[in-house]
Amino acid sequence: MERRRIRISETSKGQTVLASLQEQGIYMPAFCGGMGTCGKCRVRFTGDAPAPEEAERALLTPQEIGDGVRLACRTHAPAGALLELLSGDEDAIEAQTLIALGGPEDTPGASGLVTGTAAAVDLGTTTIAMSLVELPSGRVIGTAAGVNHQRAWGADVISRISAACNGKGGAMQESVFRDLALLRGKLGHPGSLPMVISGNTTMQHLLQGLSCRTLGTAPYTPVDISLHRYGEMTILPGISTYVGADIVSGIVACGMDRSEEICVLVDLGTNGEMAIGCRDGILCASTAAGPAFEGGNISCGTAGIPGAVCGVEIRDGKAMVETIGGAPPAGICGTGVVETVYELLKEGLMDETGLLEDEYCDDGFPLAPGVVFTGKDIREVQLAKAAVRAGLEVLIKEYGTDYDHIKKVWIAGGFGQKLNLEKAVGIGLLPEELMDRMEPVGNSSLAGAVMALRDPAAAERMEKTARAARETPLSGSAVFSELYMDCMFFPEQDGE
Ligand code: FES
Repeated sequence: MERRRIRISETSKGQTVLASLQEQGIYMPAFCGGMGTCGKCRVRFTGDAPAPEEAERALLTPQEIGDGVRLACRTHAPAGALLELLSGDEDAIEAQTLIALGGPEDTPGASGLVTGTAAAVDLGTTTIAMSLVELPSGRVIGTAAGVNHQRAWGADVISRISAACNGKGGAMQESVFRDLALLRGKLGHPGSLPMVISGNTTMQHLLQGLSCRTLGTAPYTPVDISLHRYGEMTILPGISTYVGADIVSGIVACGMDRSEEICVLVDLGTNGEMAIGCRDGILCASTAAGPAFEGGNISCGTAGIPGAVCGVEIRDGKAMVETIGGAPPAGICGTGVVETVYELLKEGLMDETGLLEDEYCDDGFPLAPGVVFTGKDIREVQLAKAAVRAGLEVLIKEYGTDYDHIKKVWIAGGFGQKLNLEKAVGIGLLPEELMDRMEPVGNSSLAGAVMALRDPAAAERMEKTARAARETPLSGSAVFSELYMDCMFFPEQDGE
């Protein structure tokens, strides 16, 4: 693959390569926010490379170090040095599917007041998705998704909040505006447009240039989570700092706010947000699942780009993989992560504690040329699935109900639609008892934004829901902590 070459600018003195690239507006994923722990910010020096730091020795192989590969966040380069960027630019994310509920792809809704073309947006921490909608017909003209290039400042909301508090808010705001323009261009509408913006609270704050200072410190108060206008944009309402407009939008898109029976919505994004309830009351929670289910913090992880491993089957110790678009394997995305862990468990190549067979301990299990799954990756999945599952159990308990009284479980998120439910249940991410009532719904946040574009009454329903819903805090909950530890284990396999 042709690698992009960059020359370090003359003004980069004393800066890390990562800081210098950021200053030059060059995208480089930095999932750990430059802490030297994720190993994603790889560059190769074409000339002499500086001596590696300890963190680089830990994350790079001796051969890579010998080849001049270094971590951009750990290394300083003299002005004028020539580098190759080894981390791919992942613009071409597969367009995400809107949920089938209410048929927003093909069923024109009630008309809003706007005529012409407008955009509905889901601003996710990892991925930004956009649908162009023709008004007043409400017809969805096209949907596209791309990487949120704010990943240059960290993979999760905590790193972004911290970067914003360290003077990077402006750069991140510019980054998201560029991403929105990129998506409009992809959809054949490069000019400005009225937009309805769903997304998590931090992403909405960064978009509007609002201070993130209070988002990161107790009592975690957002600056503005009401339904309001920001220039040409309508910002959809959220519930709190950690339960944002994305879940509110999803609640209304799925119809939980009007349901007579108790339903559950689980949004498997970088924040595991979830809600339970019906028209008589809704309870929400958010867990720091981390980006593992979106391919983040996974050694060969990638977003849902062509070539991402999205399906895995292991037979006789050999992996057979399916990739997005049938392209050559380029990494592993969220669905592939879940499938790999399930297959390793089912085949006895990993035990319930997450320990890989001896022969794969050092280099990981090979999935495809250049794509391996390591013990550290399994740990990331354990943390993520334990957070989601424990959060869900606490939510159901706190609502005062049980599995028997839940009518429906909507599974949302960028990969919600394509998630293999059987495998998700098989690794303990979701409860087996609810399997027959689960429905994958794709990007429910985006679907809600489309609804709000079509019909202002939907946005008002969201505002009403956001004001009436309650939130149960999971951090500090003893029950959650206990369940979290239990949920770190994988379910025992039949026949063991
Ligand atoms: S190791 Fe450099 S950004 Fe994570």
